Amino acid sequence: MLQLKSEKEIKKILEASQILAEILHACGDLAAPGITTGELDNFVRNSIIRRGAKPAFLGYMNYPASLCISINNEVIHGIPGRRKLKEGDIAGLDVGIELDGYFSDTAITIGVGRISAERERLLKVTRQCLEKAIEQATAGNRVSDIGRAVYNHARANNYDVVRQYCGHGVGFSQHEDPQVPNYLSTGPNPRLRPGMVIAIEPMINQGGWQVEVMEDDWTVVTADGLDSAHFEHTIAIFKDRTETLTSFNS
Ligand code: MF3
Ligand code: CO
Ligand code: CO
Repeated sequence: MLQLKSEKEIKKILEASQILAEILHACGDLAAPGITTGELDNFVRNSIIRRGAKPAFLGYMNYPASLCISINNEVIHGIPGRRKLKEGDIAGLDVGIELDGYFSDTAITIGVGRISAERERLLKVTRQCLEKAIEQATAGNRVSDIGRAVYNHARANNYDVVRQYCGHGVGFSQHEDPQVPNYLSTGPNPRLRPGMVIAIEPMINQGGWQVEVMEDDWTVVTADGLDSAHFEHTIAIFKDRTETLTSFNS
């Protein structure tokens, strides 16, 4: 069931989103060579709790952390632990929050220290995929307009698009209808309507689109071992405009 949100409810999701964006970017600033992924997770968890909110991922389907951190060939759902970030790595940081019963979800991929030109290009194109998707996420368009925008931009840059995982409705819980694929799928393709709040999250691979899940039952990696990047925003659709709720203003 697709649940529309009132303007008042969207204000609450915005409030959660702004706290979330601030914490995500502070986490990105800490992500320097030598820090462990577990230390970043602690920072995220403590920051969220200090703001009177809850880490939405912690315990969700038994996920053991507040942050997903996915490095290089890891696509999404990497579990924090003892691994240290290294100069030249790229790290996807994905965080979810619940504030007074309202949920938001956002991700960035950052470079650790100096990164290669090819990795810079992957981050730039993935960020652009998200921007182009948001431009299409307007009332009257359809979910497929989002996927088409991501897919075409990725393919035009010789990258491919992960198919097994999608964006989603968000706001009253972590994952709601509709599913928001990053390609043209044959599934449901609802029209975008005022009051819809969705998380758009392109996952873009340097090589092929295929992915696998590791032994830990969470970490998704590229099948060919090449790099992957992920950016995500929670957005709200109004009659006359679309707002990016998780945008970060330093
Ligand atoms: N944040 C992910 C998404 O973008 C979901 C994380 S699932 C969890 O939809 F279990 F890791 F929390
Ligand atoms: Co997310
Ligand atoms: Co999401």
